[in-house]
Amino acid sequence: MKIAKVGVLGAGQMGNGIAQVFAVAGFNITMRDLSSEALDKGLNTIKKSLGKLLEKAKLSPEQHNQALANIKTTTALTDLQDCDLIIEAVTENPDLKIKVFQEIDATVKPEAILATNTSSISITQIAAATKRPSQVIGMHFMNPVPLMQLVEVIRAIQTADEVYMAVEDAAKAVGKTPVEVNDYPGFVANRILMPMINEAIYCLMEGVASKEAIDTVMKLGMNHPMGPLTLADLIGLDTCLAIMEVLHRDLGDSKYRPCPLLKKMVLAGWLGRKSGRGFYSY
Ligand code: CAA
Repeated sequence: MKIAKVGVLGAGQMGNGIAQVFAVAGFNITMRDLSSEALDKGLNTIKKSLGKLLEKAKLSPEQHNQALANIKTTTALTDLQDCDLIIEAVTENPDLKIKVFQEIDATVKPEAILATNTSSISITQIAAATKRPSQVIGMHFMNPVPLMQLVEVIRAIQTADEVYMAVEDAAKAVGKTPVEVNDYPGFVANRILMPMINEAIYCLMEGVASKEAIDTVMKLGMNHPMGPLTLADLIGLDTCLAIMEVLHRDLGDSKYRPCPLLKKMVLAGWLGRKSGRGFYSY
């Protein structure tokens, strides 16, 4: 199963990062979003990121230019028709993801693999909504995609072995380290990370310590590169809440209940870096 052409659905935070790493590795990329504004914003983020990597000599000028030349953008789903692998990175909403998968399933060639970058929605459920369930898989990149080594490769109950192997090879080809995981709520990364972030928010809500103190304890005490509240701002508080809600609902254990302060901040529109305000101001 050879992968040369890759389609990325969604030009947001994760989508543009995924498009970038595939383009740097020499794949032909078509990045699709609903509007040319969203595509321009995504492409600008890629240009800034590639510019930084060039500045730091992590890319040569030729690699930089070739990576940019490898990326096409489009608003038309039909432009992804002949892609070998499609990676979906749209908003973390189950109904929307299922709709997007049904559309893409009806559009792209029958042998194409359909991957989702979902951080917590059931891959098995997404696969079941398509006519090619054995070719559906999770490919969960970490934020910021160009800098983070891990890709969780998540098998739905229906995923075929050769599909798993092709995706594992693709993750290695873009310089990442794939780790095989089965489809359970939150997979591994968010099953462990999100309850830690949620607990940090409880500590803040209960006045156990200030936000700076909580972050410093985890940075200096556990050698984490970022404190949990700074990391929540990077991920997006709406995403953190959505993941906690999935863990709470699907695992049915009260230990996953989302912190009321997290809920309140999302209601206020304080979503972290992307909205200019979260636990910190940006
Ligand atoms: N492209 C290129 N360069 C980038 C970049 C990008 N996308 N993002 C940051 N950089 C650059 C920075 O601008 C900085 O450059 P300068 O040194 O020129 O200023 C450089 O990389 C290093 O950044 P920092 O100085 O902030 O240093 P750092 O050593 O802290 O590295 C980090 C940054 C890699 C993000 C590090 O802080 C880190 O590992 N943080 C934790 C991230 C994490 O846990 N991610 C997982 C989130 S969970 C997730 O994604 C899953 C989910 O489903 C929610």
